[in-house]
Amino acid sequence: MGKKVTVVGAGFYGSTTAQRLAEYDVFDTVVITDIVEGKPAGLALDLNQSRPVEGFETTIVGVTTGPNGEGYEAIEGSDVVVITAGLPRKPGMSRMDLLETNAKIVRQVAENVAKYAPNAVVIVVSNPLDEMTALAQLATQFPKNRVLGQAGMLDTARFTNFVAEALSVPVKSVRTLTLGSHGDTMVPVPSKSTVNGKPLRDVMPAEQIEELVVKTRNGGAEVVALLKTGSAYYAPSAAAARMAKAVAEDSGDVMPVCAWVDGEYGISGVYLGVEAEIGAQGVKRVVETDLDADEMAALKEAAEAVRAKQADISSL
Ligand code: NAI
Ligand code: 2OP
Repeated sequence: MGKKVTVVGAGFYGSTTAQRLAEYDVFDTVVITDIVEGKPAGLALDLNQSRPVEGFETTIVGVTTGPNGEGYEAIEGSDVVVITAGLPRKPGMSRMDLLETNAKIVRQVAENVAKYAPNAVVIVVSNPLDEMTALAQLATQFPKNRVLGQAGMLDTARFTNFVAEALSVPVKSVRTLTLGSHGDTMVPVPSKSTVNGKPLRDVMPAEQIEELVVKTRNGGAEVVALLKTGSAYYAPSAAAARMAKAVAEDSGDVMPVCAWVDGEYGISGVYLGVEAEIGAQGVKRVVETDLDADEMAALKEAAEAVRAKQADISSL
């Protein structure tokens, strides 16, 4: 059976994710949905017309969905569903300012996903990310391993890019890691970061590493401030699409993602940015890595901050 992926939300994040997924040419079908009449169908028509040029066979289907779940039949049989529906930030807004509005949207979407694609792995990207991931799990009632969020892939890519730019080295020679939340308690992990295999701390002064850590934490806000309307989507869509591909291919790749943590790092009962092995059932296992004392304390702080917000989620 060919693979099928659905992207819910045909805004900037959703449309660029659908494009990347189609261009991988590993899915039979990419479904893109939105509540805006005609928009997903128009994007699908346009994307399908790029097939002869880009040389991929994946078919893109665009469907407008209604307030009572009309149109959701189109997602039936999806192996993966990426939820991008929701408002993005405006300049000056924090991701948390989106909580109530996006909670209503994500809950409605998740309930329809549970109904029409009960075996799918759900990848959430709507903000605030950690809370929306928890909400999607509650609303779908899927096993926790089958609901995960995209944040760490993006935040790590930003950190890696900033290090590579600062040192004028190829991005492929740099490895970094970010854990924690996709917010103020993001935890970039210099102790696990390397350049050509050498510890980052041996090739970059501590003050410069700290500058890049702060820049990474503000990576999304910096783009929002420049764009004026909307938030980043090229790097975010690259991140979510790679996660969906890892699920479809049951790759076992270890990626930083927002996953349910159950005892790892001495933390339990919370969705949090950690490294995890990704496969056909979503998170195969959370992979613990050695952290230094400061990083460990920051991860615990992030867990408690997310836990406090997640407690409010069930009422939204
Ligand atoms: P956008 O405004 O371009 O697109 C959002 C789309 O969602 C719109 O087309 C809208 O019509 C649609 N939508 C609203 N309610 C819907 C519903 N009930 N069902 C289906 N579609 C619905 O925004 P963009 O840039 O695509 O961002 C989407 C979300 O992703 C935002 O919440 C943003 O904050 C988040 N984001 C998350 C990142 C991450 O790393 N996790 C990174 C970048 C953005
Ligand atoms: C980002 O990090 C806004 O979460 C979005 O770009």
